[in-house]
Amino acid sequence: MKIGFIGGGHVAQVLAKLFIEAGHTVVLTNKHGLERLQPVVERLGSQAQVGNLAEVVRQDLVVLAVPYKALFELDTQLLEGKNVIDATNYFPHRDGDIAELREHRLGTTQLMARHFEGATFVKAFNTIPVADLARLAVAKKTKKVALPLAGDDLPLKQKVAALIREIGFTAYDVGSLADSPKMQSDTPVFLFVGDEKELSKKING
Ligand SMILES: NC(=O)c1ccc[n+]([C@@H]2O[C@H](COP(=O)([O-])OP(=O)(O)OC[C@H]3O[C@@H](n4cnc5c(N)ncnc54)[C@H](OP(=O)(O)O)[C@@H]3O)[C@@H](O)[C@H]2O)c1
Repeated sequence: MKIGFIGGGHVAQVLAKLFIEAGHTVVLTNKHGLERLQPVVERLGSQAQVGNLAEVVRQDLVVLAVPYKALFELDTQLLEGKNVIDATNYFPHRDGDIAELREHRLGTTQLMARHFEGATFVKAFNTIPVADLARLAVAKKTKKVALPLAGDDLPLKQKVAALIREIGFTAYDVGSLADSPKMQSDTPVFLFVGDEKELSKKING
């Protein structure tokens, strides 16, 4: 699969490496100059490229890996017809106060699904610190760690669950996008690293 990343920082670089090891190709973009990503893709190898936003969104799957507030800088039609993984988290101190989120009227990914017209969203890879992802992968201790995902579109969710399994982890289906607030940064699941049973307890109480 061809996977594009909006963002070229910590999350994008760790996931890109894991996806490449699983046989996929990646395209990364950033905000402050693509030349700064050149050494990153050189380290990642021939399956990685730097690209502009248009190139990134041409891939089969697009991963959002930027600070949440940066998503509002992007064109609302950028992701039309695209399959998107939202790996972002919302932090009011960093991203600003957003009443709908503060009042729990919407989940952060639901708000993005509304913001970007005609895109299909799955929320995934936002709960685990990427340093842990990388460490567990190197130590080959991924199998017993469950990563949550949520979304409304079953085929996309199956695709993302398969991707989670391909990089060695266990996929845990939290439910629909309406359930995705259960795996946000203000829940016990955030930063949690554990197996399916422990994750289920965190999510369902
Ligand atoms: N770090 C973690 O362990 C972790 C784990 C799960 C989820 N998350 C979430 O994932 C997201 C990314 O985190 P991170 O740690 O990877 O952050 P980061 O290292 O600061 O990287 C952010 C990246 O986003 C790029 N960016 C910012 N605005 C952009 C725009 N308008 N268009 C294109 N690219 C843009 C930045 O480009 P420049 O470099 O050019 O500024 C940078 O490459 C955040 O929402 C975070 O909360 C983080």
